[in-house]
Amino acid sequence: MNIHTYEKTWLAVAMVLIVGFIATVTYGAVGPGIAMIDDDGGSIDPDTINDDERFSETGVTHVGGNEYEANIVAQAWSYSPSEITVPANSEVTFYVTSRDVTHSFTVVGTNINTMVVPGEVSQMTAEFDEPGEYGILCNEYCGEYHHTMEGKLNVVP
Ligand code: CUA
Repeated sequence: MNIHTYEKTWLAVAMVLIVGFIATVTYGAVGPGIAMIDDDGGSIDPDTINDDERFSETGVTHVGGNEYEANIVAQAWSYSPSEITVPANSEVTFYVTSRDVTHSFTVVGTNINTMVVPGEVSQMTAEFDEPGEYGILCNEYCGEYHHTMEGKLNVVP
């Protein structure tokens, strides 16, 4: 049987594509991967959140100078605490974890937007110069009342 030259060429191209796809998938599975969340905060056992010193009492802590720490637990379908207040001209480091399923912690109008994965502590730092009010919401679908999952961040003078 005589295969036309074009067919041979396309056969070769198809083989290269198939090998390429397999290589891509393999690289994705075993390669360095992409860090979806800032995992600087380390890991945590979702069952022992209440015993963890960072999350047994959620809320804002003054660390010193203009630095604050906000420890927040996400769960279906709320944040604990649901309202956070920090002074203007402060630098706030957020530590957020989830008690149940994957949520997000998104402060509307800022670049604070992280996935919140059970077992992980998402950490991010932001500066708040001006007084203002920001909505906090969940961007990851987390069940029936996902759309009601919200909080509030107050930056007070
Ligand atoms: Cu939590 Cu959507």
